[in-house]
Amino acid sequence: MTAPTSAVSSIASERIVGPIILLGAPGAGKGTQAKLIAKTFAIPQISTGDLLRDNVARGTELGKAAKAIMEKGDLVPDKLVLDMVSGRLREADCQRGFILDGFPRTVVQAEWLDSFLEKERKDKGVTCEAAYAPPVVIQLKVDYNQLLQRIAGRRSCPACGRIYNVYLQPPKVEGKCDVDGATLVQRADDREDVVAERLKAYEAQTLPLVDYYSSGGRLVTVDGDQPVEEVMRQAFSAIEHVNRV
Ligand code: AP5
Repeated sequence: MTAPTSAVSSIASERIVGPIILLGAPGAGKGTQAKLIAKTFAIPQISTGDLLRDNVARGTELGKAAKAIMEKGDLVPDKLVLDMVSGRLREADCQRGFILDGFPRTVVQAEWLDSFLEKERKDKGVTCEAAYAPPVVIQLKVDYNQLLQRIAGRRSCPACGRIYNVYLQPPKVEGKCDVDGATLVQRADDREDVVAERLKAYEAQTLPLVDYYSSGGRLVTVDGDQPVEEVMRQAFSAIEHVNRV
């Protein structure tokens, strides 16, 4: 899948894009869109869910602390997430911008991010100002029943990370990745009982971020209940409209 020509034509990979946040419920399509945006703008996708799952798989101290919480569908405590994200955002590949997928997820995390960006602007000076500008926030809105179907059908490739859906976006060969042929896997927290908890955590702790970001005029809402290509076209248009690219 490629990005819309009109959007790509105005984007040069060396240009500064700045921070982009994808906000949305579990299954809204954050990971799917983040991968497309990251590829087109040549900036890193920073998925706190992926980083946490990687820590769980490697059995790190963070992974051990997060595992049981994630399996219940609750949010990992802010302190643990912020320590992990602050290290990642200081890596060299973030200096033209980055796309945050699944972060921030609480008002505490959003306030921390604002302070982090402000400090980076001050410390790094005028050459890096745009890279750490206030973020463009894209909210993906999807109907509740559609979210449940998407999560139930989601499979992903353990090798390349590509996301599929057995109902909506099946691979060419059942159970195998189109890119590398690896056997597709289902996430441990995609069980029905856990999904209900994840959706509750979203409503209670993450939805308040819509108000938080609306007041700054940097929130764009996209109807995520459309084909991937159309969501992508509207997300790119939002980035171009609000952003500096
Ligand atoms: P995380 O990994 O972030 O999961 P999530 O937010 O629940 O989001 P998902 O990955 O389930 O969905 P998505 O929006 O990325 O949708 P996707 O593109 O895959 O977090 C997991 C856990 O980690 C949390 O519960 C928490 O415990 C912890 N955590 C993570 N970040 C944290 C933080 N900041 N603070 C505290 N705790 C944190 O798409 C879903 C499916 O739909 C796929 O099958 C896809 O193919 C399909 N699809 C996508 N778009 C479309 C479309 N337009 N049309 C049809 N199908 C589509």
